Amino acid sequence: MSPPVVRHADLLRLRDEFPLLAASVYLNTCSLGARSERSRRRLDAFLADWDELGARAWYKRWLDELDRLRDDFGAIIGVAGPEIALAPSVSAALAVVASALDPLHRGDPAALERLASAGVPAGHAPRTRVVTTALDFPTVGHQWLARAPLGVELVVVPSPDGLTVPLDAFAAAIDERTALVATSHAYFTTGAVNELRPLADLCHERGALLLIDAYQATGIVPTDVVVAGIDVYVSGTLKWLFGGPGTAFAWVRPALHDALRPTTTGWFSSANQFAFAVDELAFATDGRRYELGTPSVPSAAIARGGLEVVREAGVERLGERTRDLGDLLIGLADDAGLAVRAVRSAAQRGGVVPIAVPEPKPVVDALAAEGIIVDFRPGVVRCSPAFYNTEDEVRLLVDRLVAHVPATERRVS
Ligand SMILES: Cc1ncc(COP(=O)(O)O)c(C=O)c1O
Repeated sequence: MSPPVVRHADLLRLRDEFPLLAASVYLNTCSLGARSERSRRRLDAFLADWDELGARAWYKRWLDELDRLRDDFGAIIGVAGPEIALAPSVSAALAVVASALDPLHRGDPAALERLASAGVPAGHAPRTRVVTTALDFPTVGHQWLARAPLGVELVVVPSPDGLTVPLDAFAAAIDERTALVATSHAYFTTGAVNELRPLADLCHERGALLLIDAYQATGIVPTDVVVAGIDVYVSGTLKWLFGGPGTAFAWVRPALHDALRPTTTGWFSSANQFAFAVDELAFATDGRRYELGTPSVPSAAIARGGLEVVREAGVERLGERTRDLGDLLIGLADDAGLAVRAVRSAAQRGGVVPIAVPEPKPVVDALAAEGIIVDFRPGVVRCSPAFYNTEDEVRLLVDRLVAHVPATERRVS
């Protein structure tokens, strides 16, 4: 079979902006995206403002920078910046959102009523369950495992093929006890993409909410959260947004703001933050109601460099190139007799291409010693070419995988 055409080679013009790509064959964006020189320039500007302005930098520069960061995120998922809540990590964003569900778990009549008014017919009985899947990132499930003492039960839907979770499997797990389905847009180990609209409709029919952890999709899977019909979207800049650690965000469907009142909070969530009223809490009417304390401005500066690249290149094109490189990798790995554990259809895949290897760590270490950077999860070498990688880098990866994975360990399921 002829190799797939890898589109958008013009995006390689941005490659020189990423120093890491000169230092290694970097195929691990699903763990940490490389950073561009734009991030360094923005970080330098942050430091210069600090030195020049001191605390005045908050009002002259930094609060505005944080608003621009909210705008950048909003533009990627089809909403206005003020609908975005900033967070230092996806886990922190989830903790705030999870706190807002506690009244539903308790069966608080007013909270259930507010949810019904927002179009989610939650009924009158306590909604004690949260549904997630065996393929989701642990921090998602942990939010509700931590609530076991409050009577909250986590239901983990298994994956029949180890790659995906079909809609039917979700349907079998969602009932009148379900407050929330919390799952990924693209799974972190397998890269499989969930179709959001049918899942959102299913949840709403049964009076449950849908939360999407999109960390492995934002930046490569074009998404309009309003069209998708979801209730909560969380993501961050570590990976496919090339914006480093320290910056994440949450979006909650505005119609739900009244129904989802956080019980974990901080002063950035107040409507009138600078009134400094210790004895009064009125939540902001926009996305800020889900924020905590002072955001990390240097992280925001670095993040905005990555987001500028994403905006310039376009999520559609970034996604197409990423998946084309994935197709190339899958085809070459198949030909070489490696055990590819990815979804075959590019339309249902994010950026992760797992190759099954019983003992992946020594393989990943051997590749690293040759300057080829990938990572591992139990039973798989996780490969993730991004837009800035070349076809030759993908070919080299497959060649060296073949060299390091003993023939006896290639065909495992
Ligand atoms: C799908 C997914 N969700 C969540 C996380 C972790 O998010 P955080 O460390 O910001 O809480 C990761 C990666 O680290 C991830 O891949």
